[in-house]
Amino acid sequence: MSDRLPMAGGCCGPGAECAEPPAAVSRDQVRDYYAAAARAPQEQLCCPTVHDPADVAHIPAEVMEISYGCGSPMGKARPRRGDTVLDLGSGGGIDCFIAARHVGPGGRVIGVDMTDDMLARATASARQVARNLGYAVVEFRKGFLEAVPVADGTVDLVTSNCVLNLSTDKGRVFGEIHRALRHGGRFVISDIVSERPVPEAMRRDPELWGECLSGAMTEAEFARAAEAAGFHGVTLAREYLWQTVNGIAFYSTTFRGYRFDKGAACDHRGHAATYLGPGRAFTDDDGHTFPRGEAVAVCTDTADRLRAEPYPGHFLVTDPDGMAPTGGCC
Ligand SMILES: C[S@@+](CC[C@H](N)C(=O)[O-])C[C@H]1O[C@@H](n2cnc3c(N)ncnc32)[C@H](O)[C@@H]1O
Repeated sequence: MSDRLPMAGGCCGPGAECAEPPAAVSRDQVRDYYAAAARAPQEQLCCPTVHDPADVAHIPAEVMEISYGCGSPMGKARPRRGDTVLDLGSGGGIDCFIAARHVGPGGRVIGVDMTDDMLARATASARQVARNLGYAVVEFRKGFLEAVPVADGTVDLVTSNCVLNLSTDKGRVFGEIHRALRHGGRFVISDIVSERPVPEAMRRDPELWGECLSGAMTEAEFARAAEAAGFHGVTLAREYLWQTVNGIAFYSTTFRGYRFDKGAACDHRGHAATYLGPGRAFTDDDGHTFPRGEAVAVCTDTADRLRAEPYPGHFLVTDPDGMAPTGGCC
């Protein structure tokens, strides 16, 4: 791939409503910025992040010093034992090392980053983490967010911490996340978002770009880009105000989304879904509306999806021998 950041296309694909405006910042500039930040800790890049002490007890201090995330996606995602986890823009490795503790010796953690100095430091720290945990499950690979070096459908959980804003082809990055995840897989991503679109003059400032500000999307743009790549159940949790620059507020937000591949046939076999609230009704990503408290006939795909994250607690899904359906959703 060219080292120049892609200039066309945009967060929802060519010609789409939320096409990303061009940026005058190259991937080389971003890489040089983070190579320097790997060699000498940069205080201005460190957002306030609270970790569960048990999650970081096995992680060397030098990893924490070059931790430039804006949230704790791995702490929130709580990977399962045996999971394969992919962390994009892994930097000094903090989220990979948190994941290693959760997935256990039967799991696997892959960190991807484009910056050699970050990869070298993360790889050195991985040896210490392996000694502290008593097993080695973390590997770091050199690569770009826009062309992730992992096979299709092999990952249970994708995380990223304050990195997506640095790419000027967010649409391609979401496509890569979707490609890497298996059916039923999920992403949990923390990123800096802006309260409104960042003006072009700011987008041209490499310093502001490197500081994770001027490449930021709005929350709505982020969610639309994820949905355009095929994700469903996209949810966001705004965490804190990071900075206000030129009158624009920048927040730390953590997003979740799920990959769900529909079956070849949408079979109606007598399943029903009852929405439990809150609110009078819920409309899902396929446009099916579920009035609260009414059993609605659903196909096998919709039944499977509503049984899985993020819907438990909001739906009662019954098998053919259960509650009699009153309407149809698809
Ligand atoms: C703000 S730092 C965050 C590092 C890490 N996630 C953390 O929480 O400490 C951004 C990292 O993403 C990497 N990065 C930025 N753009 C990238 C791209 N397009 N492809 C791969 N890595 C990228 C940088 O090299 C840097 O290590």
